[in-house]
Amino acid sequence: MDGNGRWATKRFLPRVAGHVKGVDAVHGIVEACVARGVEYLTLFAFSSENWRRPADEVSLLMRLFVTALEREVAKMHANGIRLKVVGDLTRFDAKLQQMIADAERRTANNARLTVTICANYGGRWDIMQAVGKMVAAYPQICDFSEDQLAPYLAMAYAPEPDLFIRTGGEERISNFLLWQLAYAELYFTDTYWPDFDAAALDVAISSYQQRERRFGRTSAQVSVEQKKAS
Ligand code: IPE
Ligand code: MG
Repeated sequence: MDGNGRWATKRFLPRVAGHVKGVDAVHGIVEACVARGVEYLTLFAFSSENWRRPADEVSLLMRLFVTALEREVAKMHANGIRLKVVGDLTRFDAKLQQMIADAERRTANNARLTVTICANYGGRWDIMQAVGKMVAAYPQICDFSEDQLAPYLAMAYAPEPDLFIRTGGEERISNFLLWQLAYAELYFTDTYWPDFDAAALDVAISSYQQRERRFGRTSAQVSVEQKKAS
């Protein structure tokens, strides 16, 4: 979710106003995903690198996170949304950690849409923590497969993403779901995150629908398989 700061600067507003508006955009996109039958939405809210930002911006982002949880969790629960927060949460203050745990517990059995917030998350961190957990479980392990590592990744509960969307004009993955994005379709847009609405989501989805996903096979193989399936 990139472009909050520039959205605000363009309007001669402080960067924080962009973050506030960015939370509204999250709201709209969650609703749009429910309406479209999307089952998993994963939002990169705060990266492990974002601590490098000015202290006042970091603390505002934390406060926004707390108020969004306070305000939204009951509504999400009522709408059948399961909330997950992944990342190294130990760096957040105790109150926020408690709120996250409560929200996850409360919404755990909802199945309509899983919204995952990546917070103090990094793709390399995820792979490293997974290796650490696997080695702790199997101390003798020296030769292992992807299938043995995968259950320890932070998002093991979710399928790999089909579509990756980055707003704000930058064409980078910036340490998001490195492992899980291996075969995702990448979509980049100049739209700033606060302006990313349901119509913008539909443009991204229709771009996705025009792609041919071959997973290493040839186009001819894919069309034979599609005919068989239909
Ligand atoms: C993304 O918007 C929001 C967070 C990282 C929390 P930015 O804050 O990166 O916005 P720009 O890139 O400065 O416009
Ligand atoms: Mg940015």
